[in-house]
Amino acid sequence: MQTKTNASIDTAGQQDILSVADYDQVLNDALSALLVNSHVEQRSLDQLQHARQYLFPTMYTRLSPGVSGTSNTWSGWGWQSIIDKSDLRIGLLEIHRNKSIPIHDHPGACGTLIVLKGKLDVTTYQSSINNEMAKSGLAVLSKQSKQILEEKEFALITETEGNIHSLASESDVCIVLDILLRPYDETLRTWYMPASEQVSETESLVCFCVNNKHFLTRVK
Ligand SMILES: [Fe+2]
Repeated sequence: MQTKTNASIDTAGQQDILSVADYDQVLNDALSALLVNSHVEQRSLDQLQHARQYLFPTMYTRLSPGVSGTSNTWSGWGWQSIIDKSDLRIGLLEIHRNKSIPIHDHPGACGTLIVLKGKLDVTTYQSSINNEMAKSGLAVLSKQSKQILEEKEFALITETEGNIHSLASESDVCIVLDILLRPYDETLRTWYMPASEQVSETESLVCFCVNNKHFLTRVK
């Protein structure tokens, strides 16, 4: 077990979460991987470096009572924004067991999801769509990968890899630090609703495409 700094939190009835040193190391690792796989503007990195000074203390404050009470807790998950700037968005996601955030995209964005507590199921998809399907508001998604991430592990989001994904909790509660270094135009975001429960042998799904403005959510 890792040694924790005195900044680690141990709230009543809750398992303690990672320490500042843990977060810093995981964030460094995630950023290094992201820089290899995606282009990140220098101004986004500068903003993140500046934000690190207050990001983790803010997180501890926010995490003390849990993220519950934010938007969409009725659906089993919640979102709390920590930073919302043009070049940087950071927030906390809380997802409860047997609940999931439906398949969605972050067009043109890159970033990372860092598991702070619990286990996170990250399933990614690739979209194939033709003009006829687009006119009908449909897309075919092929499952690309499925990862179960534990505490201190992270997933990457780039323009082309992992950009379309769904998230689910594999634990009673899962808390995730969500960082987008190149935020996107939310009016371009799509949510993908499977037209059938059936998954084909090729693990493809025909989905209805729903624009963000028609979907009641604030997940960034
Ligand atoms: Fe997402």
